[in-house]
Amino acid sequence: MKYLGDGRFDPATWPNSGIGRVNPDGSKGTCAACHGRHSFSSALARQPENCGKCHLGPDHPQIEIYNESKHGIQFRANVAKMNLDSKSWIVGKDYSAAPTCATCHMSATSNQGVTHDVGDRISITLRPVISVKLDNWEHRRISMQDVCSNCHATGWINNFYAQYEATVDLYNEKFAKPAKSIMDKLYAAKKLTPTPFDEKIEWTYYELWHHQGRRARMGTAMMGPDYAQWHGFYEVAKTFYTEFIPEAEQLMPGVTADVMKSDFHKWTTGLSKEELQQQIDYYKDRYKQ
Ligand code: HEC
Ligand code: HEC
Ligand code: HEC
Ligand code: HEC
Repeated sequence: MKYLGDGRFDPATWPNSGIGRVNPDGSKGTCAACHGRHSFSSALARQPENCGKCHLGPDHPQIEIYNESKHGIQFRANVAKMNLDSKSWIVGKDYSAAPTCATCHMSATSNQGVTHDVGDRISITLRPVISVKLDNWEHRRISMQDVCSNCHATGWINNFYAQYEATVDLYNEKFAKPAKSIMDKLYAAKKLTPTPFDEKIEWTYYELWHHQGRRARMGTAMMGPDYAQWHGFYEVAKTFYTEFIPEAEQLMPGVTADVMKSDFHKWTTGLSKEELQQQIDYYKDRYKQ
C-alpha cells in the first residue's frame, strides 16, 4: 500500500481486501479484512460468511466444508439462539447451539480469551505438499480441544483427532511423499527444467497436493465428509493413477517403479481371482446386477 502524499494512495495498491497487505509503516494486514470499515460489529465478524469470503474455492474450501458439516447445519437451524450480538460471547456460557469459524479458531472459552492469531489452535499444517505437526503442536491442540469440550465428551474429541491424524498420514504416506520423491528424481535427472509450471506434470502435481490433497485434509479437519472423499481422496487417486504416474513414466521410464511396488499401490498389478470374485459378489448383492 503506497502513499503518494496529499491524502492519496497509489491506485495500483489501494483499495484492497487487506489480509496480507504491507502498510506504509511496514505493519501488515488490516482490521477491515474482517471488521466493517464504517461500523464495528462483532456479530458480523463472528458470521461464517465473513471468513468464507476468502476461505472458499478449489484449494481451501472451508466455507463449503463448514456448510455441509453438522456444525454448519446446526448453526443455520439455530442462528436465533446464537446470541451473535452479545458483547460477551463465551462458548458454553453465552451460546452452545453450534460453533462458527470464529468459535473454533478465535473466540473465547471459559479458559481462554479471544485470539486474533488464527493459527493459535492449529496443530498440523494442511497447506504444504506434505503435512507436518507445527512447533508447540500439543499446546495448540489442547487449545482447540478446550473449545470442543464445551459441547462434546473427551472420548468423542480424542477419537475425532485419532481419525484426523490417520487421514492426514494416509494422504502423506500413500500419495504426497511418493509423488514428491518422483518429482525430485525428475528434476535431478534434468527431465524437467527448474522453471515452475512450464511442463504439464508440474500442473498435475500442483493440483494433486494444492487443490485435491488439501480438500481431502481440510474436509477431514472440519467434518465435511464429501470434501474428504469425493472432492478429496477420489480426485487425489484419479489424478495420481491416471495422470501423474503415466506422465512421469513418459518423461523417464521406470521412475515410478519403486513407488508402484509398495503395499499401497501394488494392487494395480492386478487383483487375485478371489479378490475379484469378492468384489463382484459385493456389488451383485448391493446393486442387484
Ligand atoms: C481474521 C478476521 C479478523 C481480523 C483481520 C481482525 N479481527 Fe477483530 N475480531 C474478529 C472476530 C471474529 C471477533 C469476534 C470475537 C468474539 O467476540 O468472539 C473480533 C473481535 C474484535 C474485538 C472485540 C473483541 C475482543 O475482546 O477482542 C476487537 C476490539 C477487535 N476484534 C479488534 C480488531 C483490530 C483492531 C483488528 C486489526 C488490527 C482486528 N480486530 C482484525 C475477527 C478479526
Ligand atoms: C480477506 C481474506 C481473509 C479473511 C476475511 C479471513 N481470512 Fe483466514 N486467511 C487468509 C489468508 C490469505 C491466509 C493465509 C494463507 C497462507 O498463508 O497460505 C489465512 C489463514 C487462515 C488460517 C490458517 C492459519 C495458520 O496459521 O495455519 C485460519 C485458521 C484462518 N485463516 C481462519 C480465518 C477465520 C476464522 C476467519 C474469519 C473470522 C478468516 N480466516 C478470515 C485470508 C482471510
Ligand atoms: C468445530 C470447529 C471448527 C470450525 C467450526 C471450523 N474449523 Fe477450521 N479447523 C478446525 C480444526 C480442528 C482444524 C485442524 C486443526 C489441527 O490441525 O490441529 C481446522 C483447520 C482449518 C484451517 C487449515 C489451516 C492449515 O493448516 O492450513 C483453516 C484455514 C480453517 N480451519 C479455517 C476455517 C474457516 C474459515 C471456518 C469457517 C468457514 C472454519 N475453519 C470452521 C476446526 C474448526
Ligand atoms: C458450540 C457447540 C460445539 C462445539 C464447540 C463443537 N461442536 Fe461438534 N457438534 C456440535 C453439534 C450440535 C453437533 C451435531 C450433533 C448431532 O448430531 O445432533 C456436532 C457434531 C460433531 C461431529 C459429528 C459430525 C457428523 O457428521 O456426524 C463431530 C465429529 C464433531 N462435532 C467434532 C467436534 C470437534 C472436534 C470440535 C472441536 C474442534 C467440535 N465438534 C466443536 C456442537 C459443537
